[in-house]
Parts: sequence; C-alpha cells; structure tokens
Amino acid sequence: MQRIKVKDLLTGAELGKEVLLKGWVRTKRGNKFVNFIAVNDGSIINNLQVVADAERFSEEALKDVTTGASVAITGELVQSQGKGQAYEVHANTIEVLGKADPETYPLQKKAHSLEFLREIAHLRFRTNTFGAVFRVRNALAFAVHKFFNEHGFVYMHTPIVTASDAEGAGEMFRVTTLDLDNLPRTEEGKINFEEDFFGRSTNLTVSGQMEGEVAAMAFSDIYTFGPTFRAENSNTTRHLAEFWMIEPEMAFYDLKMNADLAEEFIRYIINHAIENNREDLEFLAQRQAEEDKQKPQNERQEMGLIEKLEFVISNQFERITYTEAIDILLNSNHYKKKKFQYDVKWGIDLQSEHERYLVEKHFKKPVIVTDYPKDIKAFYMRLNDDGKTVAAMDILAPGIGEIVGGSQREERMDVLVERMKAFGIEPEDMWWFLDTRRFGGCPHAGFGLGFERVVQFVTGMGNIRDVIPFPRTPKNAEF
Ligand code: 4AD
Ligand code: MG
Repeated sequence: MQRIKVKDLLTGAELGKEVLLKGWVRTKRGNKFVNFIAVNDGSIINNLQVVADAERFSEEALKDVTTGASVAITGELVQSQGKGQAYEVHANTIEVLGKADPETYPLQKKAHSLEFLREIAHLRFRTNTFGAVFRVRNALAFAVHKFFNEHGFVYMHTPIVTASDAEGAGEMFRVTTLDLDNLPRTEEGKINFEEDFFGRSTNLTVSGQMEGEVAAMAFSDIYTFGPTFRAENSNTTRHLAEFWMIEPEMAFYDLKMNADLAEEFIRYIINHAIENNREDLEFLAQRQAEEDKQKPQNERQEMGLIEKLEFVISNQFERITYTEAIDILLNSNHYKKKKFQYDVKWGIDLQSEHERYLVEKHFKKPVIVTDYPKDIKAFYMRLNDDGKTVAAMDILAPGIGEIVGGSQREERMDVLVERMKAFGIEPEDMWWFLDTRRFGGCPHAGFGLGFERVVQFVTGMGNIRDVIPFPRTPKNAEF
C-alpha cells in the first residue's frame, strides 16, 4: 500500500478506503475502550486522529505509542464523530518504527517556551509553532522564485567565498586554510596570504550584489537568493550572522522603477503565503493574539496578523525622502518629549527606534525612504544632483524596521572611482566591477531583501532566531 500524507487524507478524497499513514505521535489519550492517537507528518499543521479500539489493541500493544514515536498505521478513513476534525482513521494495524522514551524525550504535551525550544532546534520542527513557521518560510521561498521567473529574471548563483567586501562595512568572516597556530609571515611580519588556499585573503560573502550587477549587464534582469554572512556583533531580535538575502539587479532601471518592483514583489510573496498557507497563518495569528494579551495595552498590535498582511497587500506603501523623514521625526511629540534615545538631525543614520516611529506611529504602514545622505550609505549608490544625497531606498515594515536596502547604482565611471577613493577602496582591486562601467555600462538599480525579516513579518514571530532553522548569532553555533 502506498503511504498518503496527512494533508491529503484530510481532504477526505480517500473516504471509506483502507489507507497507510506514517508520521510522529503528538499525543495519545483514551480509556479502557478506546485510544485516540494524534499523528502529524509535517505536511499540514493539523494532526490526523487515529482511533484504536481496545478490543483490537491491548494496552501492551500500544505501550510504545508515545509522544514523539514514529509510526506506520493502516486503517479505514471515516467521517469523524468527534469535534475538531472531519475525518479520522480507524486503525487496523499500528507499527512503531522508532520509539521515543517518554522519560527523556524533551517535547511534552505542555507548551514550551521559545527560548527552551531554541536549545533543541533539531526537535523544535515537531511543534505546531515551528511547523507553521517553516512551512510559511518554504512558501515564501517558492514565491520568490515564482515571482522573478514570471517576470523574466534569471536566477544567478553568486559566490559564497569572495575576495571583495561588497558593502565596504568590514563585517566579514575570514575564510582560510592557513595554520592559525603557525601563520606564515612576510619579511615585514605581515600574514603571508600568498600561502593561503586562494593565494590571497578571502571571506564569506556579505552580499551578492557586485556579482549580480555584472550579470545584469548581460541578462538585463537577474536575482540572487542565497546565504549571506555578517560578523556584526549585534545581539538583537533582527540580526543573524548567517541569513538569506534576495538581491534582484536590473539594467535600465532608475530608483522609482526599483521601488515599484520591490513593492510589487513584497505584496506578491505575502499574497502567495496567504493563499497557500492559510491554516498555518491562522494558527500563528492566534498565537500572536494570545501573546499580545500578556503585553501592556500600548504595546499590543492594532491589527491581527492576517488582517495586517491583507492590509499590506491591498494598500500602497508610503514613499518619503530621508529629508522628509527627519522633518517628521523632528516635529513629532515623541521628539519634543525627548522619548528617542538617539538624537535626530539631518545626517544621522536612522536608528531602529526612528524607523519604527515612522512606520508604527506615524504612517501605520510600510514606508519607502529614499535619498539618504551620501556619507551614511555605500560607495556604489548613485550620487544625486544635489551632491549631498544618493539614490538609495530602504523599505521599513511595521514591527521589524528595515527589510529592504537598495539603490540606483553609480554608473558614471569618474564619479564611481571618486566615491571608491572616498571610502578607501582601491579601484584596481575591483577592476572587474569597473569593467562593466567601462564597457557598455548603463543606468541600473537593485535591492536586497532580508529573507528572515520578511518571514518574521509574515509569521509575526518576534525573534529572528525563530524563523531560520538553525540560527547563527554571536557565541552561538550549536547545531
Ligand atoms: O541593507 P543591506 O546591507 O544591503 C545590501 O547588502 C545591498 N548589497 C543590497 C542590494 O542593494 N543588493 O542589506 C539588505 C537587507 C537589509 O535590509 C536586511 O533586511 C537584511 O538584508 N539584513 C539582515 N538580515 C538579518 N541579519 C542581518 N545581520 C542582516 N543584515 C542585513
Ligand atoms: Mg541597509
């Protein structure tokens, strides 16, 4: 007999038939006449209820059917008499494939804290919450590829190990095969990277943008979707040392076209999750609502999770310049009452508290902020005619802050070289990057979306560690 997944069994298509299901026991309860075994196989948040009559299954026969055990069950799919499910299976055979000792299995019936579950990241997939989160993550990843392929973009695999620091921020993990206890030195006493694997110093990528830009100069529209590494020592609920980034890059695009695409893209993937993962989102919405009840009134969400997502897909994002954002902040009561921790003045990098004020208190929707001061953004962003700002854009989302960073790129060779020098970057080191300006360069633009931040936004999870299967953060790489 062929195994059928719980998701398909719950459609009722096999009603009245003998079926085979396999999965993990969530709970077993019963009395001396009958036992109810809830089985989950990860295909859907709902469990399948298996009814085991005491006449057929003795207590002894079911002794290893405990929470966490894996089972193979055959039986008839019937309409359920009980509340809570439309269908159930009346068991004919129950085989325990792998036991889970109740004395030592860490997941029990009670609710576990997210902190505790983070310590058992290898088992947390088996909870309702993480099952829902990672199915939604999967749906969003699929939607990313679907969107770009429907729009004629080429998926470009950019390198994980690179010799460049794309963001110029210096927050890189070094990659080396040198013996750290016995480093080779040059005559001047510096580390001799010529003896390293690549014959030079290399690091894990902080962004695929540079390689994406050169590919866009041939394919017009490309996107990357891969792991990204940043050794920034920020222990926050929105930073990871290893995260996934989606970076589209488009030839012949200006900043407005870039913002239009980003907005359409974000709406599209959220809509895909709503259409395909309704049960998961409903579960997460309820989870968030319960969590909210524990919070003081002024920290509670104004909208439920699904309501928020539906609002986002049916309303335009707000668009303002950085200069306008600063004016809004300066004129706010929040500022006048000195409630911001960091000072506000033109030229500052917007802090998380500023971003959240703009989206959560002022506009109450996602906001695209453009045209930032040139000194606080990367060298590759196109210098505006005012000579003070660059054609940058950040997208800020309620509850999260920055989810997208992007810009129109500097395509003018002379300006770009000047900017590199101002940032202490040797133009010769990026000769290949400059070649694309030298040979058939054109106006172009792109952005990077932090995948985990979007998963956080869609699932309502408060901590970024809970939306990536195996989080890497400072002092933490257990798995
Ligand atoms: O703003 P960032 O640094 O931009 C870039 O890397 C550009 N090269 C993108 C481009 O134009 N192609 O990062 C882009 C996004 C941020 O908006 C944020 O969502 C996410 O990546 N991000 C992080 N997510 C989790 N943990 C971190 N440490 C992150 N750093 C950035
Ligand atoms: Mg940024």
